[in-house]
Amino acid sequence: MKFIPVNTPLLNGNELKYLTECITTGWISSEGPFIKEFETKFSAYIGQKYGVAVSNGSAALDIAVKALGIGTGDEVIMPTFTIISPAQSVVTAGAIPVLVDCSLTDWNMNVTEIEGKITAKTKAIIVVHVYGLPVDIEPILSLAKKYNLKIIEDAAEVHGQTYNGQKCGCFGDVSIFSFYPNKHITTGEGGIILTNNQAIAERCQKLRNLCFEPEGPRFVHYELGWNYRMTNLQAALGLAQLEQIDSFLSKKRQLGEFYQKELSFLKDEGFLLPEKSSAQAENIYWVFGLVAPSEKEKEGLIDCLNQNKIATRPFFWCMHEQPIFKQMGFFEKESFPNAEKLARRGFYLPSGLGLENDDLERVVSVIKQYKGK
Ligand SMILES: Cc1ncc(COP(=O)(O)O)c(C=O)c1O
Repeated sequence: MKFIPVNTPLLNGNELKYLTECITTGWISSEGPFIKEFETKFSAYIGQKYGVAVSNGSAALDIAVKALGIGTGDEVIMPTFTIISPAQSVVTAGAIPVLVDCSLTDWNMNVTEIEGKITAKTKAIIVVHVYGLPVDIEPILSLAKKYNLKIIEDAAEVHGQTYNGQKCGCFGDVSIFSFYPNKHITTGEGGIILTNNQAIAERCQKLRNLCFEPEGPRFVHYELGWNYRMTNLQAALGLAQLEQIDSFLSKKRQLGEFYQKELSFLKDEGFLLPEKSSAQAENIYWVFGLVAPSEKEKEGLIDCLNQNKIATRPFFWCMHEQPIFKQMGFFEKESFPNAEKLARRGFYLPSGLGLENDDLERVVSVIKQYKGK
């Protein structure tokens, strides 16, 4: 029986050609010409003026937080239901993450909770679009204006998704993307920071490169940054992937529609499926998640899929329940019931671009058999 992984990337375009060019020309470090080209083309695709390519999406968040001047004692509002990267960047900058719950329909941060969390110390909001539908960002932008807050838009999972027709990643003062291989386009490992503000872009460039002084004497530093540079090899992959993004998005939509159609019976059994669309967008199904009516039901289904050599992944584990943050004294006695429900009962099915129709059919038929359908 063939193993079906949760993800396999599709690398059938100009990836090999551009990578070969890196090898034959010897440009394999972060100095190569594909970096600039990738930054220019990706930022133009999203609709932001400047792009700063980096080693991964988490690095992009570290830089975004520091570039906006977020530091000791500042509060940053963000969802509890997401990957650890946004909270980690805030905590390592000496700032304080302030959490909001998520919605049980689109699984994104609950926008109506944000205003109640704003204090005199609030400096920014990190808006994280999760699993394929955009956060309803317009009311958040109004709050940012009203209270003079910065927006970091974490668009790591929504390349090419739109919100009322405008691309996700063009709303934040700074926005970030990840290009990990399970994303809509990949560079193996990689990320990018986008902004319309030249000064912020220059600051991000400096922070990704150990804060070398652009004009100053080499190896003399006035502040600390990171080596978070992207290599020419990664940018070569990214460029080839970007050329194919429209077909990748339509493939993901087809995958989502197939699961929706075949698995809609699960709704009658108490499961939550992803929303096909919201008021602002059609789902692009970064991954196809299922939320079971109980933890027992989730475990039973996952075991059955595993026995049939079909991989799954659990949903995110909430930030307020992370042992490391508890140990550091954050989020004491806080609870967010929706996020806890999703984290305990949610998992996702194989959702990669490289999946064949046969693979998808086998996933569906194992689930149907398990449920006696
Ligand atoms: C919402 C979100 N933000 C940030 C990241 C971090 O990206 P990376 O894995 O490239 O560090 C991810 C990764 O999956 C993510 O899903």
